[in-house]
Order: sequence, then structure tokens, then C-alpha cells
Amino acid sequence: MTTLVPFVDLKTQYRSLRSEILPRVTQVMEDATFILGPDVARFEENFASYLGSRHCVGVESGTAALQFALEAFGIGPGDEVIIPATTYIASAVAVSTVGARPVLVDVDSTYFMDPNLLDAALTPATKAILPVHLYGQAMPMEPILEFARRHDLVVIEDAAQAHGARHNGRCAGTFGHAGCYSFYPAKNLGAYGDGGAIVTDDAAIADRLRLMRDFGQRKKYEHLVKGTNCRLDSIQAAVLDVKLTHLDDWNAARRRHAAAYDARLSDLGIATPVRRSDESHVYHLYVIEIEHRDRVASALRDRGIQTGIHYPIPIHLQAAYAELGLTRGAFPQTERSAERVLSLPMFPELTEEQIDLVTGALASAQALVVA
Ligand SMILES: Cc1ncc(COP(=O)(O)O)c(C=O)c1O
Repeated sequence: MTTLVPFVDLKTQYRSLRSEILPRVTQVMEDATFILGPDVARFEENFASYLGSRHCVGVESGTAALQFALEAFGIGPGDEVIIPATTYIASAVAVSTVGARPVLVDVDSTYFMDPNLLDAALTPATKAILPVHLYGQAMPMEPILEFARRHDLVVIEDAAQAHGARHNGRCAGTFGHAGCYSFYPAKNLGAYGDGGAIVTDDAAIADRLRLMRDFGQRKKYEHLVKGTNCRLDSIQAAVLDVKLTHLDDWNAARRRHAAAYDARLSDLGIATPVRRSDESHVYHLYVIEIEHRDRVASALRDRGIQTGIHYPIPIHLQAAYAELGLTRGAFPQTERSAERVLSLPMFPELTEEQIDLVTGALASAQALVVA
């Protein structure tokens, strides 16, 4: 079956950007400024200013951003970090990579860590809390910040899916001590390869992060700390700097598509994603919950419509996290949604016709699975 509606469509986006992107990328090659060239500094400055943060440090991925942020705040072996049970594995892996232990808490109906469950997760070893702005919705941060203040915890936000999402006018990723972003190609702001960044208002932390990503050197061959090689590369920074100027328009387009889905799905009696406010969601993913999810997804595939599942197996049930000693039943909300979530095609260039194809196919699939 040929694909009628892809899950994301990066090729169409590239065609519309080619004339802006190629000169910037070519310039990096002409100037041979591949490593920490002016494009990196320029993008860091522009991204920080877009978000309303003082500093931005580009690194090689979103996972590296999380890991570095934790490390920069001194989180390591013996420490515990509270994370939501529903998130991409990277949020947990970053904690494990620095030698700390991820402590999972269940989520609420908006897939955010449930603030009511934080007290139970707290131990004397808790050093940080890592809320995730999942699917592109900015999490209301007040209860998290309050809890962190009360218990003297570092707040590292995982905003890997939420570029430009705002809560009360403020961007996701700028509420805590540091915010981490991924520029994986399919993200709302995506590179043409891997990339990531940390933003913070703390100049000393930003300085430490810059040392950590480049062998601990401020001056070539003078290594002040044992840093590593984890830099955002200049070609990716050049691409991102062009794309950043389109981010608000793309996010607005995603919101329009979400509203169109909302209207059509309500007619079908399918529950639509819970939205906190008009500007809180940038719909990195448009996620519904549905009975017989796998059969519905397969019926859509038969009609040429790609979908995704974010995420089919919760972290505590992954072989990689057997060490947590948790079994089915530990996080009911997370486990229930893992069986029901279905991500519909969502990208700025999506057309009305494609949305009609998706919702038409959903209507038929529903009739099929119920019959
Ligand atoms: C919530 C979340 N955190 C972290 C990451 C890690 O980002 P990256 O793939 O750039 O390492 C991702 C990316 O998929 C993500 O969705």
C-alpha cells in the first residue's frame, strides 16, 4: 500500500526551505568553520533569546543535554532523580548514565508527572526532579517548583518535545534550573542529524557546560576539567538557525491541524487530547487514546496512513530497567495509556485533505473493530 498520509513529512519541509538553508550550510563549508564555528554561537544566542533564557549551550543530542545538565548540577552515584513513568527512555537513561537512580512516578490524564505522587517518591537521596513536557504540551510547573523549593531539589526540565510551548506566557524549559531540548530531525525544531541544547539563567552552570562539551578547554590544549567531545556541530546549528525563524508559524500550523482533528474526532465520539490552554500545546505529537489500538493502527496502515505509538512499553517494564524491580501494576495510568495511545500524523505541512483521510479511515476502522 502506498503511503497517503505519512506520520511526518520532512521532505516537503526541506523543499520549502532549500533556498534558505543551502546558502547557510554552504557558507560553513566555504569557511571551514565546522566545529564550534560562528553559527553555533549565533544559534545559541537566538535560541536563548527566543525562549527568554540567558544562556544556551549546544550539544550533540537531547540525551546528552539531559546528562550534562544533571552532571553540571553535581548529580551522580548515590543520588535519586524523580522522573515521570510515561516518557521516552532517554529521560531515564540520562539519569542512569550519570550514575544516579531514576525514581518513577505515575502521570495524570495530561501525561505529566502527577504532583500528588511526589511526596511518596521522595527519599533522603533525592537530589533532582526531571519533569517532561510530553507530546509538546507545557506542563504547569508551579507545583513542581514548589515541591523542589521545599525539598531543595534541582529542577531539570525535559523540553525535548516542546520547543515554543508556553505556560502562562513562559516557554517550557525556562522554569527550572535548566531546560533540555532535542533537535532530532522530526522534532518541532529539528536538525538534519542529531543535536541538542541546554538553556539556563545560571552563568556558572552555562560555563561548566561549555567546558564539559569540549574537553574541558576554554583555550586550546588547556584542560581545566575532564570534559568530553559532545558539541553541537556548525552545519546543524546553521540549519537550526534558519528553522528557528519558522518555528512559531509551524507551531501555529500544528495547532490549526489539532483543532481540525479535534472537531472531526468529536463528531466520531473519540476523546481528543486534553489541552491546558491555547498556547500550552505545540503538538509535537497529536495523541489520542482508543480501544483496540493495535487493530485500529493496522486498519489505518492498510489505508496508507502511518501512525505512531508513544510509547508502547513503559520504562519500568523494559528489560533495560529490570534493575528497578518494578512489575505490572506499579503505575496504572502509565500502563493503561501504553495500551491505548495512538499518535496521528502531525506536521506543519499536513493538509485538510490528509486530515480528512485520517479521520475517515479512523471512522471505518472503528466500525470494523467494533463489528
Ligand atoms: C522526551 C524526550 N527526552 C529526551 C529525548 C532525547 O533526545 P535525542 O533523541 O536528541 O537524544 C527525546 C527524543 O526523542 C524525547 O522525546
